[in-house]
Amino acid sequence: TKVDTVMHEAYRPQLHFSPKEKWMNDPNGMFFLDGEYHLFYQYFPGGTKWGPMHWGHAVSKDLIHWEHLPIALYPDSTGYIFSGSAVVDHHNTSGLAKNGEIPIVAYYTIHDDKKAKAGRVDYQTQAMAYSLDKGRTWTKYDQNPAISNPGIIDFRDPKVSWNSKSKQWVMTLAVKDHISFYGSTNLKQWKKLSDFGLNEGDHGGVWECPDLLTMKDEHGVEKNVLIVSINPGGPNRGSATQYFVGDFDGKTFKNDTPGKNSGWVDYGPDNYAGVTFNNIPKEDGRCIMIGWMSNWFYAELVPTEKWRSAMTIPRVLTLRTIGKNHVVQSLPVVEIEETIESTGKISTREVDTLDITAEAKVDVRLSRIQGRIKKANFVFELSNAKGEKILFGLDDVGGKFFVDRSASGKVNFHPDFKLGIQAPRVRDSEWVEFTAIVDVASIELFFDQGATVMTAIYFPNDGYSKLKLYGKNGKVSTDAIVVDELKTIW
Ligand code: FRU
Repeated sequence: TKVDTVMHEAYRPQLHFSPKEKWMNDPNGMFFLDGEYHLFYQYFPGGTKWGPMHWGHAVSKDLIHWEHLPIALYPDSTGYIFSGSAVVDHHNTSGLAKNGEIPIVAYYTIHDDKKAKAGRVDYQTQAMAYSLDKGRTWTKYDQNPAISNPGIIDFRDPKVSWNSKSKQWVMTLAVKDHISFYGSTNLKQWKKLSDFGLNEGDHGGVWECPDLLTMKDEHGVEKNVLIVSINPGGPNRGSATQYFVGDFDGKTFKNDTPGKNSGWVDYGPDNYAGVTFNNIPKEDGRCIMIGWMSNWFYAELVPTEKWRSAMTIPRVLTLRTIGKNHVVQSLPVVEIEETIESTGKISTREVDTLDITAEAKVDVRLSRIQGRIKKANFVFELSNAKGEKILFGLDDVGGKFFVDRSASGKVNFHPDFKLGIQAPRVRDSEWVEFTAIVDVASIELFFDQGATVMTAIYFPNDGYSKLKLYGKNGKVSTDAIVVDELKTIW
């Protein structure tokens, strides 16, 4: 097989999706059909900063290896193509198929920049496009906009899914500081159902990219989870994604913890606008999410040359009970194991300092590290020959997980990039289970079965090749630490 040199330049993720060149932000329109996962994304082919938005496109058979496809949707005289979703209309409820095809129906926001510049407030509307060839080519609906603007500046990011309880398509839409739900039986005409959120959850920024999920907890209790991205106002500054657990009765969403959100999908600074795949087969049943692995604070400033941004590793969301509350946990999809090149094991013991790379004898630049550590003040240090490093671990006294990228390499492109990152310990127990995915310029940390997740990007001047673990206040006990060196997908 031939090596794609473009996909091996400095800071280029080797396990994560990134565009071959130019600017990318949010994942859009994700669905599964006939053995293929489709990923669309906010894309500007004209530069490495945000610009007139298109929908880029890629497909994968396993959520790990991606094939870049031609741009799916181009902006036109009505405006840019902002974020949205796509559903598989198996029963042709839309009537768009004339010859027995299965329509894929995409909803996105048209952003009319000319109207915005003219000082009007109604420049974002919801529009539809469809594909009759399994997502390869798209036709814009001739009666767009399907939902016109009620006079609100931020009116966007339609996420459509089938609601089996109320037997209708439900569109979840971000409207500045709240969510509006719309219902439809034919994917063409939409009726407003309700609003949610004015006095709920965090409001440090604008609400964007929502998603309404139906999930069962470990006791089989069915709940609805409402995902809402917010920018700025995240727990570690800038962009982040909060969620609410409650019940959607086909009309309104009722929050189980009125006034509060139930937590953050990811407490780190670099996971934004994440939404889930539509049409995952029942036999699979997973709720699979991908997020944009950056932050609006500095996304346009990060020191990559030819392209900007990558997606997170696809993650499986599960609903679990902790005490009286429901929490959403997430872990990387198991498909990642197809990329394991070699495995190093660390003997279980009590240590002051553990040189993980020396003992495991695998390359950690592209790796998965898993295991358990007894609750203590512990620090992992991932570093390079230049002495640049990123630290992460548990501050047991403060009961918080942390990531410290202040000396991680290039950090001065934005004043906030080097600031400390913290997250609560959501699921407390004697042992801290962890999974870390390291990929050239990013780390994704899943603590306590994914109850606390932190994602952070970094830009060292030389690849990180050393990993060690030490206790801050004495020894640390480790158990079953396994380091998997992973293979590049490009
Ligand atoms: C979120 C977002 C969306 C919008 C898109 C534009 O990152 O601001 O609300 O649709 O990006 O690219």
